Amino acid sequence: MKTDARTVCELRDVTYVYPSGASGRAALSGVSLEVREGEWLALLGSNGSGKSTLARHLNALLIPTQGDCIVYGMSTRDPANVFAVRSAVSMVFQNPENQIVGTVVDEDAAFGPENQGLPPAEIESRVERALEAAGLLAKRAKPTYTLSGGEKQRLAVAGALAMDAPCLVLDEPTAMLDPRGRADLLAIMRALHDGGKTIVHITHRLEEILWCDRAVVLAGGRIEWEGGVEPLLRQDGALRKWGLDAPPLVALWRELGEETGLALPRIPTLEGMIDALCPLQ
Ligand SMILES: Nc1ncnc2c1ncn2[C@@H]1O[C@H](COP(=O)(O)OP(=O)(O)OP(=O)(O)O)[C@@H](O)[C@H]1O
Ligand SMILES: [Mg+2]
Repeated sequence: MKTDARTVCELRDVTYVYPSGASGRAALSGVSLEVREGEWLALLGSNGSGKSTLARHLNALLIPTQGDCIVYGMSTRDPANVFAVRSAVSMVFQNPENQIVGTVVDEDAAFGPENQGLPPAEIESRVERALEAAGLLAKRAKPTYTLSGGEKQRLAVAGALAMDAPCLVLDEPTAMLDPRGRADLLAIMRALHDGGKTIVHITHRLEEILWCDRAVVLAGGRIEWEGGVEPLLRQDGALRKWGLDAPPLVALWRELGEETGLALPRIPTLEGMIDALCPLQ
């Protein structure tokens, strides 16, 4: 993340109450947050904490009940900005079924770039690259209804990649993926981040946030914690309180860090921990 990075998305004291919400309770309350250009931001929190509601504000699917959401300087409140906001922020929704619009895999992946009015050759090359990255090229001619849940999730990712938007918001994009698919998607996200994209990554899995620049924890529709990944992983009781569980490697790293003088890595990757625990002589 660049230190002088400009703001991509900003929530200013946002409160959101679903019109259909029987309780009338706010799904987001007084949330202020800046997403900076080039950062990979992890958004964490237990079920119902407001993560998807926040995500839907970032591409103008929801408009704050109170407060404002500004994307690349444009208020999402102004209908005239919606197309530009959605071109700048592409979303991978939590439920990929909601996102599939095409009847055939490559048609579906082409939907975003077609809406952007790009020339056919550019659409074709973007679709091919996106399907390749998402591991779906072999299925490009298949009807979308024949895809498995995980494949639908990959297709949603491919659709977002094909947009080539500067900012991607991914709402639990690995939930239905197998371990290989999860690792592949994280590798794609790292490459996008290295290439300067801004990423908002919603997840429950702490092992997925190791390469993020910053983490935000939501609880009950409010921002409960905000900071670097390392200090977040060092929280113990608080993580449990927020419904987040430290994976064994993180727990080991934390315990060893507290109990021994070992030179442990700043973040607990498997390779880093092996190097720290079994240094080559
Ligand atoms: N369409 C809706 N209508 C009414 N209430 C809703 C709607 N969608 C979400 N809510 C409520 O808003 C709150 C936040 O929901 P949200 O989906 O943002 O949570 P989340 O953090 O994404 O949860 P999860 O981890 O389960 O995906 C919850 O109390 C939920 O019941
Ligand atoms: Mg959600």
